[in-house]
Amino acid sequence: MGKILVIHGPNLNLLGTREVEIYGKTTLEEINENLERSAEEAGHELETFQSNHEGEIVDKIQETDAQIILINPAAFTHYSVAIREAIASVDIPTIEVHISNIYAREEFRQQSVIAPVTVGQIAGFGPESYYRALEAAIRLMESESSR
Ligand code: DQA
Repeated sequence: MGKILVIHGPNLNLLGTREVEIYGKTTLEEINENLERSAEEAGHELETFQSNHEGEIVDKIQETDAQIILINPAAFTHYSVAIREAIASVDIPTIEVHISNIYAREEFRQQSVIAPVTVGQIAGFGPESYYRALEAAIRLMESESSR
């Protein structure tokens, strides 16, 4: 049994009503419930955390006792050196998640400053991006603990 931390960045608390043509109608609460249920079924613990504040996300990354992190850094994806360095500073494998395909959108979204310090990125599948990322996280955790 391991612990997974899911971090949602700014404005993701508004999922379901925010720019629905891009992000869809699923709420953050629904996504979190699905993630919690799937993790529990696989025998793992899952904590979710949403913040609109960069420093709070940095604090959370520094303080967590999770074995793996899923993060949708939202707008911070494109410029937060502080979040990138927090991930690089802790020895916790991290998977980056995006609801939309950031590479098919405006130019400023096509760069992630976070990606180079992650295991990998899943983007473009709507809320499914989170569920696929959770599967990847569970496999990674289980393969690391059997080593
Ligand atoms: C996002 C993409 C970001 O560019 C944007 O700032 C978000 C959401 C996504 O999940 O598609 O807030 O991270």
